[in-house]
Amino acid sequence: MEYILYEQKGAYAVITINREKALNALNSQVLEELDATLEAVDLSTVRALVLTGAGAKSFVAGADIGEMSTLTKAEGEAFGKKGNDVFRKLETFPLPVIAAINGFALGGGCEIAMSCDIRICSDNAVFGQPEVGLGITPGFGGTQRLARLVGAGYAKQMIYTARNIKAAEALRIGLVNEVYSAEVDAEGNVVKSAQEVMLAAAEKMAAGIAKNAPIAVRNCKKAINEGLDVDMDAAIVIEEKLFGDCFETQDQQYGMAFFLDKNKDKVKEPFKNA
Ligand code: CAA
Repeated sequence: MEYILYEQKGAYAVITINREKALNALNSQVLEELDATLEAVDLSTVRALVLTGAGAKSFVAGADIGEMSTLTKAEGEAFGKKGNDVFRKLETFPLPVIAAINGFALGGGCEIAMSCDIRICSDNAVFGQPEVGLGITPGFGGTQRLARLVGAGYAKQMIYTARNIKAAEALRIGLVNEVYSAEVDAEGNVVKSAQEVMLAAAEKMAAGIAKNAPIAVRNCKKAINEGLDVDMDAAIVIEEKLFGDCFETQDQQYGMAFFLDKNKDKVKEPFKNA
């Protein structure tokens, strides 16, 4: 792989979009490599993913403008589909995905972050959908996911004005869950950069998720995602089914037996993903 780094760290893995010279912009090759990376994740051992960008300046500065500049109508639609297919794979991936946003998350960068389950960022992060300034619409799900995440009002404002927003505003409107700053010592020297602090928090969250019963976590993701697309009567049926499915798992039997066992010296074993 030229543009994607994949590192498994115990029960979670970190995917890094590694095209730093172009601020990790998404060309066809990056999208194809990301797709292949997701296909190759070992679901028997990996229980959560962190997605980030290489370098301190940019998470992903959008789809590749050079590649898009000469597309025909049909090619434009196909490029949109290519991005949408990979982002949908991420959104429905059977593991939780945490976007660890370091710097620019513009256009396709904001869109890929929104395809993840959870977004956290460093305090230099900048979010935006600048597409109308380039003569196009957001094309990797931005018109759909932004409105669902922050409401139609903020989404329309961001998309129509093409104005970028900083991390604090992204936090205020619910586009990210947490913003991290650099760690400084008593003299004001930077001990850890904001990116390091944020990545450590993302990895800690992934490791924490990875300790929980994997089938239950997976079913929660499915229930939330699928439930949001239907009315409440249908949504609770989706939940009931996925809740019921958990009672066929060894992990449910172990998790509940562990709780009910009054032996105080017992040590909780890792869930078996079974
Ligand atoms: N596509 C292709 N190349 C990009 C890029 C992109 N989206 N974003 C940055 N780059 C490249 C630049 O061309 C430049 O390359 P060279 O060194 O070869 O000249 C390199 O990355 C560094 O960028 P800058 O010199 O521009 O860095 P800067 O600090 O001056 O500015 C920036 C940073 C504000 C993020 C600026 O690069 C920028 O505005 N980028 C474009 C952001 C954008 O419009 N994204 C949306 C794309 S459209 C889209 O994503 C459609 C969709 O929904 C599918």
